[in-house]
Amino acid sequence: MAASLASTDRDLRGYPERTFPTRILQIDPSKILFKGKERDLSQEGQVAFVDDTDCETLLKVAAQALADSHLVAFPTETVYGLGANALDEDAVVKIFRAKGRPTDNPLIVHISDMDMLRKLVLEGYQLSAVYDALIRDFWPGPMTLLFPVDEVKVPSVVRCGLKTLGVRMPSHPVARALIAKSKLPLAAPSANASGRPSPTTAMHVYRDMTSKKNGNIEGRLPYIIDGGPCLVGLESTVIDGVTCQGELRVLRPGGVGVEALEHCLQANKLLLGQPDCKANAVSLRVYGKDMQRSKEEESAPTTPGMKYRHYSPDAEVILLLEQPKANINNGKGDENPVLSPRDAVNLLVSQHSRAGNTLKIGLMSLDDSELTNSLMQKPDQVNGHYHFLRHFSLGSKGRPEQVAKRLFEGLRALDEGEEEDGSDRCELIFVEAPNDDAGIGLAIMNRLEKAASSVLYIAL
Ligand code: TXA
Ligand code: MG
Repeated sequence: MAASLASTDRDLRGYPERTFPTRILQIDPSKILFKGKERDLSQEGQVAFVDDTDCETLLKVAAQALADSHLVAFPTETVYGLGANALDEDAVVKIFRAKGRPTDNPLIVHISDMDMLRKLVLEGYQLSAVYDALIRDFWPGPMTLLFPVDEVKVPSVVRCGLKTLGVRMPSHPVARALIAKSKLPLAAPSANASGRPSPTTAMHVYRDMTSKKNGNIEGRLPYIIDGGPCLVGLESTVIDGVTCQGELRVLRPGGVGVEALEHCLQANKLLLGQPDCKANAVSLRVYGKDMQRSKEEESAPTTPGMKYRHYSPDAEVILLLEQPKANINNGKGDENPVLSPRDAVNLLVSQHSRAGNTLKIGLMSLDDSELTNSLMQKPDQVNGHYHFLRHFSLGSKGRPEQVAKRLFEGLRALDEGEEEDGSDRCELIFVEAPNDDAGIGLAIMNRLEKAASSVLYIAL
């Protein structure tokens, strides 16, 4: 059992001035039960605990740490979050320090009931019909909505001076229980070091948030709650329904697909253009799909949800995008050559090999794909200059939810290696891009494009 931090310990120094012997608190999500109706969002403090006093005690330890201005990492259904009391400026500053996060990138605040939302938004703010419908369908769950914020109550540092606040009600029992138990809205970005792939296990968080010095662990936070691997594996969909009248803008695709949002609007007669739509109907716009991407916008602090750089492992990530076979041209005299898988690999190897060294390559691809079959047959004999170090499976064809769940895990596994000395770290990672924008596919492609340094077109 982890010792509680003394409740009098209100040392406000954060990393790097202060470090911790970071402890992992194991909490089994199946031991947490919610009283009342599962989707009743309005009830406060509705957490119940089933025959597990340890689980309750550990949650109390974590809740106390949050009340004492400390950081606690916790599981959500999307990715692990690095949490702090959203109303405590000193605590929130620690999030930016621990992650090395740019201070112009605002945080999402996590709530466990609608009363908490009311305390964060501008006084007198009424939910629009569109938000009301979305909340009924997708909360608790992987959807973040922007709201006009109460600028007095919510410290500016949380929202980086913006007049909107991103809020989400997670469905993971541990996340919801922690928020309800602590009675605190939790500001929480993904719990990775800034720029790294988001963490989908407690171990990912531990690796990013601790280092070893003279045999001692120097952690950036006191506690990480381990509630098992995240089920969705990619972050929430970030939606802005307040900035532009008559528009619902998807700023970041995520766990809730655009089709599901569209379906919800249609079912409530709130999609502009449908014959029987209501007067307060809106158009649905998706950044990067039917809203043009722009480098200027993506680097401006006023449009933080759209930022470019992200999710990069140290290895160079190259997307392999499938094209019709008819387009194959062996790369001669074409700006975007379409190559066979072997030619694609040979090209990259010739570009990246250094004399005398074997290039370490990882391949992330579907179990049963032609690409996998073509490249994994005698993988180390294709060319004397390289070998495939490792294959990481993205799951089965036609199961995008498996790809989403495994994507960040795979980037980390191939990038970090598993040998103690890092001898099996890959320098190049090839990723078979599913190239399907439907459902969670849009979020998968968005994360892959952000992680990759280049795209190669291949014909199978
Ligand atoms: O699933 C998730 O959303 C995870 C879990 C932990 O909840 N959190 C997460 O947080 O992904 P983070 O900080 O890694 O990403 C939040 C995104 C950022 O792109 C940020 O710029 C955007 O949401 N965002 C937050 N508040 C915003 C605001 N007021 N306006 C525009 N974008 C905002
Ligand atoms: Mg993040």
